[in-house]
Amino acid sequence: MIATQSTTKGASQAPYSAKQALALRQAGMQRGSITKYQPFSQIELPDRQWPSRAVTAAPIWCSVDLRDGNQALAIPMSVGEKIEFFKLLVDLGFKEIEVGFPAASQIEFDFMRRLVEEDLIPNDVTVQVLVQAREALIERTFEALHGIPRAIVHLYNSTSPLQRRVVFGMSRPEIIDIAVRGMALIKALAPSLPDTHIRVEYSPESFSATELDFSLEICEAVMEVWEPTAADPIILNLPATVEVATPNVHADQIEWFCRHLRHRDRAIISLHTHNDRGAGVAATELGLLAGAQRVEGTLFGNGERTGNVDIVTLALNLYTQGVDPELDFSDINAVRAIYERCTRMDVHPRHPYAGDLVFTAFSGSHQDAINKGMAAQDPMPSALWQVPYLPIDPKDIGRSYEAIIRINAQSGKGGVAYVLESEYGIQMPKTMQVEFGKVINDIADQYGAELTPAQIHQAFQQTYLEQQTPFRLEAFRTLMHHDQSSQDADASPSAVTCVARVLVDGAPHEISAVGNGPINAFVNAMKEELVADFNILSYAEHSLGEGSRAEAIAYIQIRTPSGETFFGAATDTNIERASIKAVVGALNRAIHAHQGVRVTEG
Ligand code: KIV
Ligand code: ZN
Repeated sequence: MIATQSTTKGASQAPYSAKQALALRQAGMQRGSITKYQPFSQIELPDRQWPSRAVTAAPIWCSVDLRDGNQALAIPMSVGEKIEFFKLLVDLGFKEIEVGFPAASQIEFDFMRRLVEEDLIPNDVTVQVLVQAREALIERTFEALHGIPRAIVHLYNSTSPLQRRVVFGMSRPEIIDIAVRGMALIKALAPSLPDTHIRVEYSPESFSATELDFSLEICEAVMEVWEPTAADPIILNLPATVEVATPNVHADQIEWFCRHLRHRDRAIISLHTHNDRGAGVAATELGLLAGAQRVEGTLFGNGERTGNVDIVTLALNLYTQGVDPELDFSDINAVRAIYERCTRMDVHPRHPYAGDLVFTAFSGSHQDAINKGMAAQDPMPSALWQVPYLPIDPKDIGRSYEAIIRINAQSGKGGVAYVLESEYGIQMPKTMQVEFGKVINDIADQYGAELTPAQIHQAFQQTYLEQQTPFRLEAFRTLMHHDQSSQDADASPSAVTCVARVLVDGAPHEISAVGNGPINAFVNAMKEELVADFNILSYAEHSLGEGSRAEAIAYIQIRTPSGETFFGAATDTNIERASIKAVVGALNRAIHAHQGVRVTEG
């Protein structure tokens, strides 16, 4: 809504002065039977068609960032910032851009002139200028347009009963007269710019709260003056200047209007929703189902009060339904950076598609599902995107996968495993993921904040790799025994003797035993000489890099006589030694069970 709307002497007299009214008003919400507000009336349209339609093509987009968005900024953009923003809008693919209200301020006039004089408007882009239905303003607007090949002159006046009564004190015919005289003047001035193709837009401002028959009457009166054709139609912009009802009511209003308008083919119906009830996107989407062809809005929903409709969200909503939005948000971070710099506004961390946190899952079950979905996703760029919890492939809009999973106390094993695997190549066995997931949850609870991948890795090292007391493996070798009767030189040994030196709280112990493999022989040696009973439940290993010098990591799960299970893990360039160290690590963990692990500030 325009802040410079003029009041007239005919406005109705209020019973109290503004100061008296303020004093009478009580703070706080009314309770029980609410008389202060009333529901918006439903629209009589029993055979409404919009609920069973789908949007199958992009609308005509018109950015109003440089006008509606800019006028709502505490510090409006400078001419330089406007030019930068204009270029961004052109690069994104906007073909219609409202560049301001040149008659309202010198800066907007100068900006318009720079666009023309520096030839900054591409051949396929039309700029739009807003003007109130007032003679002097319309004339000044035409001065701003000199030398431009194409322009949309956007005329508006307010039409709702509330505005008619309290702001203008005018009857319906008087309000129609303002619009008709404004359009007649535009028609009269158009020949003064013989090299400019002038198109017109008319907005019955506050359409959302205007009686439908009156909106129709005023729009048809304006059309009669301009005499649009199907080849060169007028734009009728039906603004939800203030969002006053649910989106279905908005859709009914638009469908009602489209169905009743005479010469429907001579008008492009445009939507311009604001977001007072937080449903601007929904209202616009339903308005498109109801027959509108064009959408005015802003990037990230900047604009008066709660903002205009957010075109980024609308466009990407279309994209995720398989419809080409004809706007390119492949590098949404760059778009956001220019937007934030020029408007000095922030994009909320939960803002659809663009917010910092929208590709981040904190909850364990979400992390797990995303992890599995990513692994199952066909990597071909044209393959159908099917990853749980992610309605869009973050890569399509220049966001990365790395930030998808972050770890806090609600996170589960899947997220932790994802971080360790994607950042450090550690592929824990499934049951170990459960064990380490609990360790991380406890740490995150104590730490009271989100854990970084480095902190998770540090916790992994402390929990598994740095378990070196009371036992520490100092030396280890094996002797293979082959069955003398076997003819096969490559046959596996029939038995293995392990000889090891183990430090127990720093004191060396030589141990030795026979087993059916190195791990089994070492377990036997430990059981015979150093620890009570335990056995190996599972074993896994993989390399941590490429090449013969690469380290391997081994994971061993043991069960103690009390039935408790513990994992151990160890790395070494020799896989056999990694396995034995993992057994030692698991035993140390069993001994130290229930002692906490701490992480340092990351
Ligand atoms: O919100 C509104 O009604 C406007 C009009 C000038 C179109 O911005
Ligand atoms: Zn607006």
